[in-house]
Amino acid sequence: PVLVVDFGAQYAQLIARRVREAQVYSEVVPHTMPVAEILAKDPAAIILSGGPSSVYEEGAPGMDSALVEAGVPVFGICYGFQLLARALGGTVEATGAREYGRTEVRMTGDGGVLHHELPGTHPAWMSHGDSVTKAPESYVVTATSEGAPVAGFENAEARIAGVQYHPEVGHSPHGQEVLRRFLHDIAGIRPHWTTASIVEDQVDRVRAQIGDGSAICALSGGVDSAVAAALVQRAIGERLTCVFVDHGLLRAGERTQVERDFVAATGVNLVTVDARERFLDALAGVTDPEQKRKIIGREFIRVFEQAERDLKAKGDYRFLVQGTLYPDVVESGGGAGTSNIKSHHNVGGLPEDLQFELVEPLRLLFKDEVRRVGLELGLPETIVQRQPFPGPGLGIRIIGEVTGDRLETLRAADAIAREELTAAGLDRDIWQCPVVLLADVRSVGVQGDGRTYGHPIVLRPVSSEDAMTADWTRLPYDVLERISTRITNEVAEVNRVVLDVTSKPPGTIEWE
Ligand code: XMP
Repeated sequence: PVLVVDFGAQYAQLIARRVREAQVYSEVVPHTMPVAEILAKDPAAIILSGGPSSVYEEGAPGMDSALVEAGVPVFGICYGFQLLARALGGTVEATGAREYGRTEVRMTGDGGVLHHELPGTHPAWMSHGDSVTKAPESYVVTATSEGAPVAGFENAEARIAGVQYHPEVGHSPHGQEVLRRFLHDIAGIRPHWTTASIVEDQVDRVRAQIGDGSAICALSGGVDSAVAAALVQRAIGERLTCVFVDHGLLRAGERTQVERDFVAATGVNLVTVDARERFLDALAGVTDPEQKRKIIGREFIRVFEQAERDLKAKGDYRFLVQGTLYPDVVESGGGAGTSNIKSHHNVGGLPEDLQFELVEPLRLLFKDEVRRVGLELGLPETIVQRQPFPGPGLGIRIIGEVTGDRLETLRAADAIAREELTAAGLDRDIWQCPVVLLADVRSVGVQGDGRTYGHPIVLRPVSSEDAMTADWTRLPYDVLERISTRITNEVAEVNRVVLDVTSKPPGTIEWE
């Protein structure tokens, strides 16, 4: 693999994704990993990520110079570029000329390999206080900017290079090309990481792991569990059984999507458990968000355990398939814990005492790769491109007690909003658009000749890269108008539609 050494910035995963877009497999490793361990992974190249603002900062992470002496191709980015400069004998100084944000980068000389024949000046994203003022000996300077005398250097023979700017972000329009040149032209890595090769690879691994055993997979209707199941189905066929729990908190059409479309696309064995009443009973009288989440999680596990016992009576079901993705793996191994803001319930986030061995065929993949794998496996767009939807479903989008009637009201309003957003071609522009029913709030309205006293529906359209932060999406007024008119006309209990214009932070995406 290409190893991206994470110096603590937000960018390491993004770099790894970009490397994979250049069809080269990559993994993220923490900067605390000893060089010997890094080299033991036999990296095709090492990329040093951005990090804290200054290499001179107290406690700033350093780099063992053995890393650049091992003969492995190395690429430094931003902070990693400065570490590289220092390790190779260049000079890094606080010149007082900081650069943050969009910066013009000028090519010097013939631009070397990295910047060859790029436009003479091109925009790139910078974020640095210190600057490399002198390149290491025998390194050519290939780019410069106002605040960074040395904005790029390389030694193609030594297969070491770096840039001060962030090639991985969208604001550096030539960044991907520069990264690609490092990987293909300087490091000499052959592109091999394609969707077809991922599928082939993972199918082989799953076969090897499961042998002639059988596996269970909990389907949620979401992308990850669907793609994981489809991969395992491709590997072991009949010996996979999927369990789909209808907890009654689903949106319109979701059960059909699993029972009809997913089964048609994969031919998977499916057991649906209708637990709608059970969940409603358990949620009766509950209004506290955390309590709702806990109850839904607990009931889900109980229902699943029953299904598991039924299956185990029939076969050797020792394996449990989960749709764990690579970012979860990186983040859970990444040490520094983030605070638990909401207790996330993942359908499939099952207790440890379940007697299963886990099969996680998406463990190495990013979301966009998972989607491509899904398409490669023949899953329909409706499943593969589905926007995120929380495990606890509509249960946390009814503010107040969850009842059957309220679920119907919300489901109808949600279906209208989704229909109109899709019709307007906005599905790819928004990350998701929760539709929330304020069940304990009433307001006065007038419809026809009569006074109404109904509930508000909140639209919460957000744009986001990863759901960690989000901005509210500026939806076109005519689309908002159509949604509002249709919801108030077609959904009996609702007489008002309001728009949530809060970013995250401070507001989370979901209301509960
Ligand atoms: P918040 O509300 O925390 O949501 O800003 C961030 C993203 O996570 C989704 N979400 C969940 N997903 N189980 C899930 O699988 C959950 O319990 C859960 N809660 C929130 C939410 O829809 C958004 O995409």
